Amino acid sequence: MIEFKNVSKTYDNGVKALENINLTINEGEFVAIIGLSGAGKSTLLRLINKLIESTGGEVFFDGISVTKATGRDLISIRRQIGMIFQGFNIVKRMSVLSNVLSGRVAYNPTWKTILGLFPEEDKQIAYRALKRVDILEKVHNRASDLSGGQQQRVAIARALAQEPKIMLADEPVASLDPITTVQVMDYLKKINVEDGITTVSNLHHVDLALKYATRVVGIKEGKVVYDVQMVDIKKEKFYEDLEIVYGRPVHHDEVLGDK
Ligand SMILES: Nc1ncnc2c1ncn2[C@@H]1O[C@H](COP(=O)(O)OP(=O)(O)OP(=O)(O)O)[C@@H](O)[C@H]1O
Ligand SMILES: [Mg+2]
Repeated sequence: MIEFKNVSKTYDNGVKALENINLTINEGEFVAIIGLSGAGKSTLLRLINKLIESTGGEVFFDGISVTKATGRDLISIRRQIGMIFQGFNIVKRMSVLSNVLSGRVAYNPTWKTILGLFPEEDKQIAYRALKRVDILEKVHNRASDLSGGQQQRVAIARALAQEPKIMLADEPVASLDPITTVQVMDYLKKINVEDGITTVSNLHHVDLALKYATRVVGIKEGKVVYDVQMVDIKKEKFYEDLEIVYGRPVHHDEVLGDK
C-alpha cells in the first residue's frame, strides 16, 4: 500500500533527516512510528503525501509513484490520504461543518468551494464523519468553541470526509491530556479496524504504540532500526528492545522524544 524504496531526505540546510529508507506498509495495518525528537518521523510521514519532496529514492502509494506525481495525479493521491496533526490544523473561526466539508475540496471544482457551495451529498458525508467520532451535535458550533480533544475529533472527521484509504497522524495526541488521548486513539483504532483504513501514526508515548499499533517501526538518526509485528512480541521484550531505538533503557509510562 505504501512503499519506500531507498528513500533519502536531506533538507536545504544540509540536515540528513532520512537515509536510504526501505519500508513497506500493508493494507489495514496500524503502524506506530517511534523515535527520539529529530529522528525523522515527521519527515517520513510527510513524504507519503509529498508535503515535502525526497532527495533520493521513490515513494509509492498503491503502486503509483508519489515522488513523480504532479498536478492532477498528485491531487488524486492526496485525496486518498487523510492527515491529522498535533496542532489539529483546523480553522478555528469556521464552523465545525465547514471544517469537515473542507475535506471534500478535492472532489469539487475550486470555484464552488470558494463560494462554499457543497453538494448535499457532501454534507451527508460530513455529517456521517462527525457522527463517527460522536461529535455531530457540534456541527454548527465555531471550531474555536471546542476543547482540544473535540477539535482533534473534528480533524479526524475532516480526514474521514475525504474517504481516504490511509490515515497519517503526526503526534495526534501530543497536546492532549491522558483521558482525551485515549478517546482520540480509540477513534483512530475504530476507524482502522472497522473501515480498514491503513493508519500510520508518529507517537512519543511507547505505551500508546504498544496498546494501539499492530506494528511498531523505530527510527533512529534517519534510519529504520526496528520493525516488529506486535502479535509476535511479548510486552517485556518490547520494552527491552526499545533501547535499540532510544539508545538507553526505556521504562513503562515514559513519554519519549517530546519537545
Ligand atoms: N524544514 C526543515 N528544514 C531543515 N531541517 C529540518 C526541517 N524539518 C526537519 N528538519 C530536521 O530534520 C531532522 C528530522 O526532523 P523531523 O521533524 O522529521 O523529526 P521528528 O522525528 O519528527 O522529531 P519530533 O519528535 O521532534 O517531531 C531534524 O534534525 C530536524 O531538525
Ligand atoms: Mg515530528
